[in-house]
Amino acid sequence: MKNIIITGGAGFIGSHLVRLMVNKYPEYRIINLDTLTYAGNLANLKDIEDKPNYVFEKADICDFEAVNTLFTHYRPDGVIHLAAESHVDRSIKDPFAFARTNVLGTLNLLQAAKLAWEGKMAGKVFYHVSTDEVYGSLEAGGGFFSEETKYDPHSPYSASKASSDHFVRAYHDTYGLPVKISNCSNNYGSYQFPEKLIPLFINNIRHNKPLPVYGKGENVRDWLFVEDHAGAIDLIFHQGKVGDTYNIGGFNEWKNIDLIRVLIRVTDRLLGRPEGSSEKLITYVTDRAGHDLRYAIDSSKLHKELGWSPSLQFEEGIEKTVKWYLENQEWLDQVTSGVYRDYYQKMYE
Ligand code: NAD
Ligand code: DAU
Repeated sequence: MKNIIITGGAGFIGSHLVRLMVNKYPEYRIINLDTLTYAGNLANLKDIEDKPNYVFEKADICDFEAVNTLFTHYRPDGVIHLAAESHVDRSIKDPFAFARTNVLGTLNLLQAAKLAWEGKMAGKVFYHVSTDEVYGSLEAGGGFFSEETKYDPHSPYSASKASSDHFVRAYHDTYGLPVKISNCSNNYGSYQFPEKLIPLFINNIRHNKPLPVYGKGENVRDWLFVEDHAGAIDLIFHQGKVGDTYNIGGFNEWKNIDLIRVLIRVTDRLLGRPEGSSEKLITYVTDRAGHDLRYAIDSSKLHKELGWSPSLQFEEGIEKTVKWYLENQEWLDQVTSGVYRDYYQKMYE
């Protein structure tokens, strides 16, 4: 049995990836290494937690001894690293937390992998999951991010992710660690913590709460259904070239305000309200500091080399997503209550 460590497997994207890998590869033991911050929730994995090829290990990637002990114990054949602080607004409030987890945490994992694999790197893979935000910001209508685009991060979050990407490449170039990196655009779908735009707004529409649109709502994001991201990670992990970077995105750009109007229409309809009636909840608020204007990913390398394309049209993905949040109010209440709520409120006081 091959041992694959997935870090951050209790989070949004990580839980979709763990589910995919556990169900698709009974010959792999999937070890979910997660410290369960406010964003990590084992309820995300209820349906697979009893599978014989799934193990959960509660550990903090910032704790080198803990990470190294797990690597020594499991001798992993592969690592897929998603654990991170992931919310840009939080990074503006507490940049140190982002440097710790995203930079130091990644370095700890790289070092543990290097020690575990020294002299036997062949066939091993250290896959680092990164973001398109490392490339900076594009002008409206001004091209796409390719794998060759120069790094130009602006927020503490994207600076920490860029730094972690550099460490991953440094371990490849210096020590021969067999690494792969992907940089993906904005994900949407089930199990996303409701601080991010889409789940926050669906929940607020349902409860008739204001929808805080930053600035004029003119910023553009490139949206990909989370299960398509998980599928791309699976493909790159197995078939991508060691040492290479792959951009992942669905050529699906939306201006925030246009996306919000779509969300309002779909949510109103599914709640049995007149479509568009919740537009009255739109509230323009102070812009995010250093708000990147536009992200747009060119994923043609992934398409040409590995044959990947997204499986879902955006309209279908949004419909599924809104339905999921409306049918899973209990999940939303759980992740925003108790310890989760305490942590969340402290951040925003
Ligand atoms: P998330 O915030 O939903 O989940 C992060 C997970 O990491 C949680 O389960 C959390 O408990 C865990 N974690 C955090 N700190 C940890 C630590 N010190 N030790 C162990 N576990 C820790 O994040 P997400 O949106 O699922 O993003 C996952 C990865 O994908 C991140 O690396 C992020 O940068 C990247 N990414 C996200 C998006 C997106 O749109 N969400 C897009 C591209 C790339
Ligand atoms: O591009 C990939 C990145 O996408 C990931 O690396 C990050 O982990 C992920 O959080 C996401 O970052 P964004 O900052 O783009 O996502 P967020 O959902 O926070 O915001 C999306 C857009 O909506 C952004 O332009 C800010 C705006 N926004 C967001 C919130 C939460 C609002 O206008 N109002 C809000 O309340």
